[in-house]
Amino acid sequence: MWDRKHLLDIEAFSRTDIENLIALAKRLEPFSGIDKSKKFKPLGLCSGQIMTLWFEPGKENSTRTFGSFPAAMMRLGGNCKVFDEATSSMTKGESLEDTTRILSGHSDVIVDRHHDADHVYTVASASSVPVINAGNGSAQHPTQTLLDIYTMVKKFGRIEGLKVAVVGDLKYGRTVHSLVKGLEKFGVHATGICPQGLEMPGEFRTAGYEERIIDMNDIGRALSELKPDVVYATRIQAERFSGNSGTYDYIIDKAVLSGLPKNAVIMHPLPRISELSREIDADERSIYFHQADNGVPVRMAILCLLLDHEFE
Ligand code: NCD
Repeated sequence: MWDRKHLLDIEAFSRTDIENLIALAKRLEPFSGIDKSKKFKPLGLCSGQIMTLWFEPGKENSTRTFGSFPAAMMRLGGNCKVFDEATSSMTKGESLEDTTRILSGHSDVIVDRHHDADHVYTVASASSVPVINAGNGSAQHPTQTLLDIYTMVKKFGRIEGLKVAVVGDLKYGRTVHSLVKGLEKFGVHATGICPQGLEMPGEFRTAGYEERIIDMNDIGRALSELKPDVVYATRIQAERFSGNSGTYDYIIDKAVLSGLPKNAVIMHPLPRISELSREIDADERSIYFHQADNGVPVRMAILCLLLDHEFE
């Protein structure tokens, strides 16, 4: 059972915790503003409350997570502020623990993204308010996993029995690390498809996980043989490589799509670089932009649960 003190990794969640969170996100979605055709009245559940965004500058830049957490907070009537290490007293040598102690005094919730996978755990141990992991190095991205599962449930009405292929950079892609573990809670054993050198690290492999190491020029053949319901593609995480990452490039284009089942979907945490051809954007099976939108209602639900707000 998730203790709702912090949100640090996907292991903390039971299947029921995820189902409850998804149900809440579904009820909050009409108030999230993601459906531009619908008007809604703002919610005041987090009125007067403050979120601090602590995103490490430079190495861990972000568009979706950095944007949708404050959007979620503001849709709930709360406020946000950004903590910038570069202009803080950390530059004078103030410790991580003291900095956290001070920031949690100013905030009701802290959202943390850092290249050091342990950073969020240290912040959580020194904080007097809930801390959320918004991506810890190449380890996990648990809130992305929750919105990924939400997106699959919206599309298929269930997780059980889905065949999911995670594709691309399985070594450094933190979103697939937490996703494989999250899916396993529903009895879904993902299949990894990756080039040699970008295999899933042992610590993220679940009991039922299988992997196919392929020449990524053969991605179309591998997927048409597997016939997955969900293709979850990832970007090659070039910033985490010391050598040349270009040799791992691959592309999902119309030809690849033509070999997939008619009701299969393409997901991707985004940003995409060249692995998703623009020519597939208009295909109704390409749901990655809807997936990104779902970050707002899911993060609204996370905030309600961590800040103990009932929503009837
Ligand atoms: C992902 C991340 O930061 O891990 N982006 C995101 O949060 N949606 C994926 C990526 O950067 O490739």
